Amino acid sequence: MKGFASDNYSGAHSKIIEAVINANKNHEKAYGNDQYTEEAVGKFKQIFGDDIDVYFVFTGTGANVLSLKTVTQSYNAIICSEFAHINVDETGAPENLTGCKLLTIQTNDGKITVDGIKKYMYRIGDEHFAQPKIISISQPTELGTLYTVDEIKEISQYAKKNNLLLHVDGARISNAAVALNLNFKQFTKDVGVDILSFGGAKNGLMFGEAIIFFNTNLSANFKFFRKQSMQLSSKMRFISAQFTALLINDLWKQNAQQSNKMAQYLYNKIKDFKEIRITQKVETNGVFAVMPRELALKLQQKFPFYFWKEEIGEVRFMMSFDNTTQEIDEFVELIKGEF
Ligand SMILES: Cc1ncc(COP(=O)(O)O)c(C=O)c1O
Repeated sequence: MKGFASDNYSGAHSKIIEAVINANKNHEKAYGNDQYTEEAVGKFKQIFGDDIDVYFVFTGTGANVLSLKTVTQSYNAIICSEFAHINVDETGAPENLTGCKLLTIQTNDGKITVDGIKKYMYRIGDEHFAQPKIISISQPTELGTLYTVDEIKEISQYAKKNNLLLHVDGARISNAAVALNLNFKQFTKDVGVDILSFGGAKNGLMFGEAIIFFNTNLSANFKFFRKQSMQLSSKMRFISAQFTALLINDLWKQNAQQSNKMAQYLYNKIKDFKEIRITQKVETNGVFAVMPRELALKLQQKFPFYFWKEEIGEVRFMMSFDNTTQEIDEFVELIKGEF
């Protein structure tokens, strides 16, 4: 069963489980008014500074949708890439819960640019047109690629000049930090990001994501929307304790380093096979490749992984914090046996 399907296929890191067990003592105040939540918020403040608001939710979809919901009206539009998780993998939840229109930008590598955004920046003030309010980018992107600090800055500067906000879907933000060799703040708050969905589950948590508002004026109504959309955990301590465990002693870094390293390892092992063509830069923990469909179907019987664009035989290998070189070696041997 262990394979390369998703960084959600892995279990939770043992230190996360330990933290949950340690939080399972005594009674605590409910709904986030507990000492564990205070501690986890404190950890985020050490990373990003005191002038932030931090909230915890159950899922990445919840983090994204609530980030967008809190700052939009139903007549607004959200600008994102055609591959954005909010566009293709959230069952229309952003549209359903915000009422906003998603304006999508075509991209070959998952990244959007100011030129792409500009296409939608007309008819501002026209009551017949959904009014752009926020740009959402994913870092890393759904294709495993990375925005550079300058690319994020360029988008945020354009956003500020044009009265737009900037949200980052950071479901794999730790993989980005490790790959860029930067701290979290340097490529988010410091370059003008307004709201960050900070991922946990894909980097070793059992479940749980955080939403960080760098512009605290924006978060005034958040708590009401969180409750209304059923993302307020009564026993929040079990999410918060996991985040504290992730953020102390660089567990986040260890986990992300391992999954990124495993993607590089797999890439190096398969890149020269003539039957396989790598389709995206391998910058974080994902490897995208085109291979004969028959081969993919055979390999999938032993090692789970997903087709990405089935019509062209493109597959996705997504590495988890607990994947090992041994599994990759076995996988590569299996490929060799098919040639
Ligand atoms: C880019 C991205 N954002 C957000 C999510 C979070 O989704 P979920 O609601 O499944 O936790 C995912 C998970 O696949 C993702 O890949």
